[in-house]
Amino acid sequence: MDPLRVLIVPGSARTGSLNLKLARAAEAALRELGAVATVTDLRALALPIYDGDLEAASGVPEGAKTLLAQFAAHEAVLVVSPEYNAFPPPLLMNAIDWVSRLPEHKAAMNGKPTALLSASPGMLGGMRSLLALRQFLSLNLGMLVLPQQLGVSQANKAFADDGRLSDDKQQQVLQGVLSALLKTTQAVQG
Ligand SMILES: Cc1cc2nc3c(=O)[nH]c(=O)nc-3n(C[C@H](O)[C@H](O)[C@H](O)COP(=O)(O)O)c2cc1C
Repeated sequence: MDPLRVLIVPGSARTGSLNLKLARAAEAALRELGAVATVTDLRALALPIYDGDLEAASGVPEGAKTLLAQFAAHEAVLVVSPEYNAFPPPLLMNAIDWVSRLPEHKAAMNGKPTALLSASPGMLGGMRSLLALRQFLSLNLGMLVLPQQLGVSQANKAFADDGRLSDDKQQQVLQGVLSALLKTTQAVQG
């Protein structure tokens, strides 16, 4: 069987982003589990804030079509996102709002196994935003969001020099979330 392909979607493109670090740790762990992972760059899509007048005048921007093609080309999705005021950040929400304007998003997203991770320098690890993200991705977009998730608290101190989570138990939780994602994806693929 061909290796499963996982699209990793970091919700922050900031230089030094803790979520990008977590995304890279997940990418390495997925590779160890035999999957192929692609880390996407939402900032590179250069999407304007969603605007119905802009859409009416010039259609859905190319960046949203690029992201849709990435969703379509992967069997599973891993979102790794910061928490802004207990909510997912605009970079992520806006990109997905644009994608949802393309009718083909249903085939690319509906029923697609999806796992959620977050990292924060705070004590709650961004967990509150994962609740909102779970609702956002599952209720309308129909993504199959796994119950397993991980919020890395005090993430500014959480990574070892090799990029792994320095706490072994936390690294094991990460591997557990990713294993569950691959197992669910295999089951969905039949
Ligand atoms: C507008 C804004 C709101 C934030 N709100 C929260 C919050 O509600 N909870 C939290 O844990 N951290 C919050 N933070 C801090 C972020 O967790 C922190 O900046 C983190 O490093 C962002 O992720 P990144 O490193 O991947 O860019 C907020 C940061 C910003 C810029």
